[in-house]
Amino acid sequence: MRIAVYPGSFDPTTNGHLDIIKRSAKLVDKLIVGVLKNNSKQPLFSTDERVELLKKLTKDMENVEVDSFSGLLVDFLKEKNATIIVRGFRAVSDFEYELQIAQTNYSLDNNIETICLITRVEYSFLSASIVKEVAMYGGDISKMVPEETAVYMNKKYKGK
Ligand code: PNS
Repeated sequence: MRIAVYPGSFDPTTNGHLDIIKRSAKLVDKLIVGVLKNNSKQPLFSTDERVELLKKLTKDMENVEVDSFSGLLVDFLKEKNATIIVRGFRAVSDFEYELQIAQTNYSLDNNIETICLITRVEYSFLSASIVKEVAMYGGDISKMVPEETAVYMNKKYKGK
């Protein structure tokens, strides 16, 4: 059974993330979306909120699971019997960061392969930070995130 983990902060899930989830789920038997818990980036959403939102967004995807992890990604993969890491690749500027993560993980466990899916061009400018900035100043994020994410963002910023 081919099990992959798509790790990230998902703070919050954007259309770009969801596209990578849908596309990578087709390549493997099981895809586990792994939400990083101990994030030094000071997330806007709690781990529980990020996991809950992802579960709502993937509820109709049969081979997709959502879980959170702390510590090393390679240990999370071992715990889940997974051997593949999925990452989304948007632009050349992502290259050094993704290379560093992939090579670090490879040096920690050389049985693990990283697959980078090239982001669709319509999502290539998107990032969770951009979405948060636009939403914080009241901009329209409806084309950047799934509807459910927009609901979560509205609650956060407008207390609705
Ligand atoms: O969405 P992000 O924030 O770019 O994802 C980064 C992530 C979660 C892939 C990375 O920070 C990670 O795997 N952290 C867990 C700790 C770890 O294993 N570090 C060594 C490899 S970078």
